[in-house]
Amino acid sequence: MTANQTTPDLLQIGQIVNDVSAMTSWSPVPSGSVFRVPLYSYPNWGIKPTAENMEFLYANSCAAYMVEWQHTDTALNNLVAIASKNAQLGDVNTLMNVEVGNIGAEYLGAAVARNGGFTVVDIGSGAGATSLRLLASIQEIGIRPTRESTIYLIDPSEERMAYAKGVIIKALEGCGFSDIVQIVAKIGRDKPMLDELDEGSVSLAVSNAAIHHNAFNRHLDSIRRVLAPEGQFINGDWHEGMWESPSRTYWMLAVLRDLHNDNVTNSILAFVRDGTRPEGYTERKEVAEFRKYFGLSMNDVHSAFDGTLPSERLANTGIMKFWLSVGKTFNEKGSKAPIWFLEAHEPLARRIRHLEDAGLKVLRDPDGQPLLRQPLVLRGQGDLATVMRCEKPQRLKVA
Ligand SMILES: C[S@@+](CC[C@H](N)C(=O)[O-])C[C@H]1O[C@@H](n2cnc3c(N)ncnc32)[C@H](O)[C@@H]1O
Repeated sequence: MTANQTTPDLLQIGQIVNDVSAMTSWSPVPSGSVFRVPLYSYPNWGIKPTAENMEFLYANSCAAYMVEWQHTDTALNNLVAIASKNAQLGDVNTLMNVEVGNIGAEYLGAAVARNGGFTVVDIGSGAGATSLRLLASIQEIGIRPTRESTIYLIDPSEERMAYAKGVIIKALEGCGFSDIVQIVAKIGRDKPMLDELDEGSVSLAVSNAAIHHNAFNRHLDSIRRVLAPEGQFINGDWHEGMWESPSRTYWMLAVLRDLHNDNVTNSILAFVRDGTRPEGYTERKEVAEFRKYFGLSMNDVHSAFDGTLPSERLANTGIMKFWLSVGKTFNEKGSKAPIWFLEAHEPLARRIRHLEDAGLKVLRDPDGQPLLRQPLVLRGQGDLATVMRCEKPQRLKVA
């Protein structure tokens, strides 16, 4: 591969990423880099992954996530909690952590009964809420390891890790586990940190609201590798498909541009939810600029959600409400949100497929339906917050 072969392609990609940031710079919630959308969506954004540019795209995508998270502290998590409550979603991450903790503890109960102890890895541990909830559930059901056990915390933010270690060590003291369960902090990104762990060394991997910070899903292979045979991965995450294409993202920009116009917001939310074309919608010039940049007609943006499952449509409206709530908060302060809306959230069916492609078995009921916990279904937001359970299959026995 020579510079001459790659430069025009890479320059063009860089130009698209910069243009999108510039075109959306008016928004109270910045779009963030296009490198943050799921890899399978890149072509919709004009970025064609090839064998030659793949590592360039991967490096840029990882970097685009790191600038958001590496140097942030617990304040960012608090912001997410407040915005999701104001959007009438409840505290989404806490709701998922409760499910992750309960299911994870149930699994650890069986592991402790078999082996006396456990090795847990918490991916994107943040300020510690996921592991704290797991420990609370362990205590509630009366599990007590009888041999040395470890909880690995993986997170790129040193600030948040320092906080997490403090609160988890305190919780271990509260459980009377200090002498038997150690905490190991691994400061860095998911995949490189997982790759430092021995193959088959982990009984349980948990993660909440973090797997989507990797647009390429390369970390899923690493999760399967570190799990022991029949070890489980309990994955809570946000699932929706708003950033799959500029034609969908267009509608997020439309509501952010008319932040305080409830008629516009409600008619666009109804359109995303059930396909009814927004009545009396007048396109703003900044939003038109974005549409035209990607060569989209009004018909294209009106067809953006055609064929989408009802549960995903509900999830898409949920994420729009969330970002609207973030936008309003920062607009009132006259500043910009420190988090960005383009993310590698994937529709549920995609994540399930990606987990299975990585060799993890998603646990299902006798009818073949994935076993899911969805704390927002009753609040009308479909798949948006989903906790699922996967297993590393036993190695096939060779006769
Ligand atoms: C929304 S927070 C969730 C934290 C915690 N799991 C919880 O539920 O409260 C997402 C966390 O993922 C971390 N993160 C971002 N990118 C990551 C990556 N590539 N690998 C591991 N963690 C990452 C962030 O630093 C942040 O702490």
